[in-house]
Amino acid sequence: MTSTTALLITRDELLLDDLLRLAAAAGCTLEVAHDAPAGLRAWSSATVVLVGVDLASRVAEQRPPRREQVHVVGHGPAPDDAFRHALGAGAVDVVELPGSETWLVEVLTDAGDAVAGRRAGRAHTVGVVAGSGGAGATTFACALALTAAATRAATLVDLDPLGPGADRVVGLDGADGVRWDGLVTSRGRLSSHSLRTALPAKDGLAVLTWEMGAPTELDAASVREVLSATQRGNDLVVVDLPRALDDVTAEVVTRCDRVLLVTDPTVPGVASAGKVAAVLRSLNPRVEAVVRAGRGTLPAAQVAEALGLPLVADVPRHRRLAEHVDLGLGPVHGHRSALARAARTTLGLRSRQDRVA
Ligand SMILES: Nc1ncnc2c1ncn2[C@@H]1O[C@H](COP(=O)(O)OP(=O)(O)OP(=O)(O)O)[C@@H](O)[C@H]1O
Ligand SMILES: [Mg+2]
Repeated sequence: MTSTTALLITRDELLLDDLLRLAAAAGCTLEVAHDAPAGLRAWSSATVVLVGVDLASRVAEQRPPRREQVHVVGHGPAPDDAFRHALGAGAVDVVELPGSETWLVEVLTDAGDAVAGRRAGRAHTVGVVAGSGGAGATTFACALALTAAATRAATLVDLDPLGPGADRVVGLDGADGVRWDGLVTSRGRLSSHSLRTALPAKDGLAVLTWEMGAPTELDAASVREVLSATQRGNDLVVVDLPRALDDVTAEVVTRCDRVLLVTDPTVPGVASAGKVAAVLRSLNPRVEAVVRAGRGTLPAAQVAEALGLPLVADVPRHRRLAEHVDLGLGPVHGHRSALARAARTTLGLRSRQDRVA
């Protein structure tokens, strides 16, 4: 069965005009049925069903199969019997326009995203923070995102304004696409599909990073909206976070499913990571340690224990990392690289060899 984005069942021309406008704003296609039987034919294949108040009783009479995402929509306060008909049609609510326009655009945006092939749910979101300067957080964030992108839709979000730029590290330096500067000025609901296609991308990985020069100041509302759209349009989102969190980045930490603290296995490295861990834990209970092996002498298990965090991976030293990054090959050139293995372990992914075995 082919799937329709959103189905509207109405004969009300004004309502139709309004919803066509809202659907266009949401980047979603609208199939229109002018009577209940035609609506019933497209009922199950649509991602969202909008029933005009004018035809709600007719639709209810047809006893449509129960399904999620059915809304009755009309202009102004709904007539009393609209709620009874909405119940009969299996709708979850009666939506009034123009008051609920913004909400409806969100519903339609999600419908468009679902049909564009993205997962209906929210992407697993992994934040990565360095326990001390140069511990390898940006590199590991890039390794995670590149590794995941081989098998699923992944986006790397660079939230460290003073970092090298994630595009540079993954080999997308100079690639066309929108960056933070182009997003902070946009207002309103972002379509996850449009955002993903607007970002610089390569081999399944999209990257949101900064322009050269002085970084744009980000505001909480824009970052919240961008993160939400990114989460709707991907299977995995990796966020490279700065160590010194401000209000905007602290909020992002609270929205992560896991936060990885990349730590140097040295006494000073663990001391500063301990402070960062305390800040992170006050924002999110799911903080885990990644130990950058070869940068010190302390065993990884001891580092994690000292931090009071579960150990997820021991990141080995990649001898040719700088050379690969400078050549635009990225940090996980070759699936057998130790960094790719550490990324797969962290994400619980199996290698190609594992899958064949
Ligand atoms: N696993 C690794 N093997 C070898 N070199 C690495 C590894 N990880 C990072 N590096 C190198 O260490 C340096 C710092 O790495 P990176 O920028 O990833 O650290 P960071 O923790 O993000 O730093 P910052 O504190 O600036 O955010 C870079 O030159 C990078 O190439
Ligand atoms: Mg960094």
